[in-house]
Parts: sequence; C-alpha cells; structure tokens
Amino acid sequence: MPELVPLDSVAPDKVKRLLDDAFGADRFGRTAYLLRKRSKPIGPLSFALVENAEAIGTIQCWPVRIGNFSIMLVGPVAVTPDLQGKGIGHQLMHAMLDAAAKIGEPVMVMIGDPEYYERFGFTSELTGGWTLPGPWEPRRLLARNARGIAVPQTGMLEEDERAL
Ligand SMILES: CC(C)(COP(=O)(O)OP(=O)(O)OC[C@H]1O[C@@H](n2cnc3c(N)ncnc32)[C@H](O)[C@@H]1OP(=O)(O)O)[C@@H](O)C(=O)NCCC(=O)NCCS
Repeated sequence: MPELVPLDSVAPDKVKRLLDDAFGADRFGRTAYLLRKRSKPIGPLSFALVENAEAIGTIQCWPVRIGNFSIMLVGPVAVTPDLQGKGIGHQLMHAMLDAAAKIGEPVMVMIGDPEYYERFGFTSELTGGWTLPGPWEPRRLLARNARGIAVPQTGMLEEDERAL
C-alpha cells in the first residue's frame, strides 16, 4: 500500500524523478514555475505518496499573491505514468483539500485541465481578470474559493516574497 507522507520527508531527487517522468525534464519553462521559483512548498499542504521507497505521486502547494491578497498555488500534481488512472490523483487532491479545510480553506489557484479539476471545485470563472508573469491558457487558469470570500477581480499573480 502506498503511504501518504509529508513532501519534505522524501528525498528531493525522488520527487524530481517523478516530476520529470510526469511532465518531462523541460517543465521548468512552464509559467507555473515562475510563480514558485524562489519559494518553498507549504509544508502542511504538500504531500508525496511513497511505495517501495519510490515517490509515485505528489501534490505541492505554494504561497502566491495578487497585490496584498494571499492565494495558494496548487501544483504540480503528478502521478507516475505507469500508475495514472488508478485514483492516485484523487487521493492526493483529497489529502490536500482535507488539510486545507483544517487551516481555514485558503483561496486556491492552479493551472490545469478543467475537465479533471472542476470535480474538486476549481473553475476558470473566478480568474478571467487575473494575469500571470508568462503565457497561459485562460480556460486552464482555475481557482477555488470554498468560503466565497471577496477576491481581487483583476491583478497579476506573483510569487509571494513575504513568505520567502
Ligand atoms: C492529471 C493526474 C494528476 C491525474 O491523476 P490520476 O491518478 O492519473 O487520475 P485519477 O485516477 O485520480 O482520475 C482518473 C479520472 O480522471 C480523468 N483524468 C485524468 N487526467 C485527466 C485530464 N488531464 N483531463 C481530464 N480528465 C482526466 C480520467 O479520464 C479518469 O476519469 P474517469 O474517472 O471518468 O474514468 C495524472 O494523470 C498526472 O500526473 N498527469 C500528468 C501530469 C499533469 O498533467 N498534472 C496536472 C497538472 S498540475
């Protein structure tokens, strides 16, 4: 049985190998990386699934902001290619959402396929006025605002240097 553990308890090279396998080694050019270049993952909300001493899945969360408004960037969410489609992505998302509920449901943003992430409460409807420091497809810029709080309608998502 895979074991869900805090991300920071797993050797970074194991997580890197998983991300290389899931996204390709050229992933660093993606816009999402510009939002987490210097930051550290948020410990209580970032996990790995480990089986036979290898990381087979990961979910990571990072501090970003629009102006002074704090938002949590979700991603990468990754499952090792051989094990995709077996519910591991759901397990990782629910682990993150359960942990987020315990800390008061922060507003979340991610860049991902709406066909997958809408089932977890993410929608592009909240993000039409948001911009990013690199290219993005508007339909894949998704947010989740479980408490329905007032969020900025417009503005640039940036790395939150207050959390560095
Ligand atoms: C996307 C990803 C995290 C999903 O995890 P997973 O363990 O493979 O998926 P699950 O087993 O939890 O869910 C399977 C279901 O989701 C659907 N699904 C998986 N990826 C999907 C996608 N990108 N778009 C739409 N639906 C998707 C499957 O068709 C399946 O649907 P069904 O339940 O109707 O049969 C994983 O496939 C992955 O790592 N992909 C490569 C990296 C990536 O694109 N990450 C997301 C961007 S941050």
